[in-house]
Amino acid sequence: MLANCPAWPRPDLGGGLGSCMDTNQAMPGLQMLMLVALVQVLCVVPAAALTDFPSKFLVGEVNGQVVVTCDSAQEQVSWKQNEHQEIMAEHHIAGRTLTLEGLDQPATGNYTCWHGPRLLDSTYVVVSDPDYPLLQGAPGSAVTCRAESYGGELSCSWTALRPAAFRARLSRSPDGAPGAWLYVGGGSALQGPDQPQTFTATLADGTFCPFAEEPRPLELVLEGISAESFVNITHRLFLRDIVRPGPPQDVTAQSKGGLLHLSWAPPASWSSPHSYFLLRYQLEYEHWDGTKGSLQLEGVTEMSIEGDVRWVQIRCQDPLVNSTWSPWTTWQNV
Ligand SMILES: *[C@@H]1O[C@H](CO)[C@@H](O)[C@H](O)[C@H]1NC(C)=O
Ligand SMILES: *[C@@H]1O[C@H](CO)[C@@H](O)[C@H](O)[C@H]1NC(C)=O
Ligand SMILES: *[C@@H]1O[C@H](CO)[C@@H](O)[C@H](O)[C@H]1NC(C)=O
Repeated sequence: MLANCPAWPRPDLGGGLGSCMDTNQAMPGLQMLMLVALVQVLCVVPAAALTDFPSKFLVGEVNGQVVVTCDSAQEQVSWKQNEHQEIMAEHHIAGRTLTLEGLDQPATGNYTCWHGPRLLDSTYVVVSDPDYPLLQGAPGSAVTCRAESYGGELSCSWTALRPAAFRARLSRSPDGAPGAWLYVGGGSALQGPDQPQTFTATLADGTFCPFAEEPRPLELVLEGISAESFVNITHRLFLRDIVRPGPPQDVTAQSKGGLLHLSWAPPASWSSPHSYFLLRYQLEYEHWDGTKGSLQLEGVTEMSIEGDVRWVQIRCQDPLVNSTWSPWTTWQNV
């Protein structure tokens, strides 16, 4: 067991299971969104493709203003937008600041400040327009996460409705130091402007103790930038609510004297020791005469079944939290 990681009597966990995922949320009319995306391509000056999540960015609203500051010791600087001298927005320059006003889509882009030929600084400005949502689904359900164990690693997915760059990180609320940003997406020449794309990121909470009670939720922060929008989602979740074991492994089946002897092992990704992280197994089998049977077992990894069994499959769940069942193993021929 890990240092500073006191064992906690798992069977006492009860109640208080917050809900963190609504995977079946209704989606906005996709066709409508695609139509909007198409129209937008036809009438908006294309912004410079966002190849990476910008290290420095500002988010403005339609008709709003932003003040871009050139981080430099130079008193007088010149500005470019997407490599062009001409700035596609109402603006004024005072010393090291560039104020953009009456923001509109053409104002989006990479603003660079220069001293003669020397690049001093760059800031990506995005004009966030609520008419062009970036993520599929409502903010509360746009991100779904799964964990295959209590090891602190989770896999989160979301779907972008337009080309975008993302970054995500985990922390343990309220006082946990946030982990490092994980950068996802961007530079996707493959994604057409009207083609939703699903991203998956694997994030780990290094401080997580698999043996401890989980009194505070994990906090996932996801930020995304496209040419038309910025999203910033904070998603709180408990591992116990999103855990779903992988399928059992090493299934063996041997027929002997009218008995089928089966054995299997917990999924490789499941938390150990297995005597502490007990699993519940469900077996389904079919006899040669077509009759079927099923049974449920806890904590054991072998079993004998009477009769001429033809096929068998097994899946598992964490009985302590009634987790989602694992996928089935493939049907095993006997
Ligand atoms: C903006 O342009 C500068 C200079 O070409 C470049 O170094 C920087 O990576 C660009 N930023 C973005 C977000 O594309
Ligand atoms: C995103 O939201 C978090 C939490 O509300 C906030 O602390 C952070 O500053 C926001 N990031 C940006 C870039 O607005
Ligand atoms: C799990 O499900 C069983 C049977 O449906 C129920 O008796 C038990 O209370 C549930 N346990 C939890 C932790 O929800």
